[in-house]
Amino acid sequence: MITEKLGILLTEVANTCGYDDTFTVILSNRPELCDYQSDTAFQLAKKYHKAPMMIGTEIVDALKKIENFDAYFKEVSFAAPGFINMTLSDKFIKEKLEDMMNHEKFHLKEPEQVKTFVLDYGGPNVAKPLHVGHMRTAIVGESIKRIINYVGHKTISDVHLGDYGLQIGQVIYGILEDQKDVKDITLEYLEDIYPKMSALCKENDEIKEKCAAITKSLQDGDSTYRELWQVILEISGNDIKRLYRYLDVSFDLWQGESDAYQYIAPTEEILHEKDLIEDSEGAKVVEVKKEEDTKEIPPLIWQKSNGAYLYGTTDLATIYEREQRFHPDYICYIVDNRQNLHFEQVFRVAKKAEITDANLEFLGYGTVNGEDGKPYKTRSGNTPKLDGLFEQTKEIFLSKKEENKEKSEEDIRKIVNAILKFADLQNSRERDYIFDIHKFSNTVGKTGPYILYTYLRIDKILKQEEVPTRLSSQIYNETDRNLRLKLLELDKVILAAFTDRKPNYIADYIYQLSDLANSFYQNNHLANLEDQVKKNDWLYVLTLTNKVLKEMLFLIGIEIPTFM
Ligand code: ARG
Repeated sequence: MITEKLGILLTEVANTCGYDDTFTVILSNRPELCDYQSDTAFQLAKKYHKAPMMIGTEIVDALKKIENFDAYFKEVSFAAPGFINMTLSDKFIKEKLEDMMNHEKFHLKEPEQVKTFVLDYGGPNVAKPLHVGHMRTAIVGESIKRIINYVGHKTISDVHLGDYGLQIGQVIYGILEDQKDVKDITLEYLEDIYPKMSALCKENDEIKEKCAAITKSLQDGDSTYRELWQVILEISGNDIKRLYRYLDVSFDLWQGESDAYQYIAPTEEILHEKDLIEDSEGAKVVEVKKEEDTKEIPPLIWQKSNGAYLYGTTDLATIYEREQRFHPDYICYIVDNRQNLHFEQVFRVAKKAEITDANLEFLGYGTVNGEDGKPYKTRSGNTPKLDGLFEQTKEIFLSKKEENKEKSEEDIRKIVNAILKFADLQNSRERDYIFDIHKFSNTVGKTGPYILYTYLRIDKILKQEEVPTRLSSQIYNETDRNLRLKLLELDKVILAAFTDRKPNYIADYIYQLSDLANSFYQNNHLANLEDQVKKNDWLYVLTLTNKVLKEMLFLIGIEIPTFM
């Protein structure tokens, strides 16, 4: 990382001036003045009883005298009241860019230790249609997985299906009431019966009880229910897989809540050993509150008084399973923010009982809202299903231009994904955002289509030219320099996205790079350029730009179509 490298250099120089402190370097806040800056002089002022200005000028003077100054800098200067400003030399920029081009992953630093991450995302509920919220966990989760892998760690992704909840009991009840033959159960039927039953249970407590009882018997192994459950799982599971294929989202493990049941007993044993289970009106609970809590954290319900297990039970048993099977260093949950309390309880029990020593991370995401600021609904007031959303996006894109209709299905799928994913992933994951499909599908602005256009336009030029293998050490103008400097920021962005588990850093970077690439392209005409050295240099920079764009688009799950 350049900031790191410059920090080390500054620290060394500062040492020779008698400061045994670490100097940090950041990207310039004023790019018109310099490329990088250090504000460390401010922090040292107190310690040394000197004005930041004195320290700053001392370091700048010493920096100017280092032997290999030109290998790093074009200029360093002091700016009142305490900034050290640095402008990189063209030679330094050239070498860094060549180094990026010549190494896999642009010479990203390998991790000192490879860690194992279990990632829990997707989490669709069998027999319930997937909606826009499920899209968010799927695409944020997939991107986080790709970023972690890119950085060099190991991931195990698990879809963690909701396959054992009340909705199953409701659907089974409906099937039995309808006296439906097993072979007549179809996806359409399931999509029809679930909302009906769910509505019925809301108004009729007796039926709700019956459905709960069916769910419980299923979990206890009732063979008739299990047979129906298998059928539901198969049909609904295939449809869920189809949607994930469309989104280009995949999982290593296709497990669900039902798989956790075999781990309930050993997990409960640990809870007993540690004497953590308490009785609360017939239910078994685990107390998790802590003295320092500012809000009330209720106990986790391990088992209800009727013997039923709950969401917290399966999540804990799943942590036990993951620990036994994979010994992960991290278990990360990409889940709706509104489940924060649930996971706080689960994590506390897991730590109290020492079920795992993995770091447990709740990576919450915000709500997808409509213009009214409330969770996004269709015009008719329903929560839109994923299929409908894909269809709607496709239609809006097709209506933009007559030629769009000639595109292949596969290209359209990729473009629809780019529209939806880029719109989503440019937002910090924990924030809500407003779903505005017209805005998202624009070809200008911070959108997926804009990025794809940029990429494909550059790609077209590059395909007609011989790609050079080296750069000269010249930089020709501002748009050229800005693009090159942005390329140099790449590793910092990737590592920050990894550390904070934030794909939006990558999406932002992609956008900035595309924007600079477009300015570059508009200002520096390659066609008919006589100066071969200049032409080579520019082709080199564009080649690297597109290589970076391509790999970063992969990290946010965007595939590149053949045409736009
Ligand atoms: N099925 C859950 C839901 O739709 C999400 C599952 C998240 N993962 C987990 N381990 N609890 O709310």
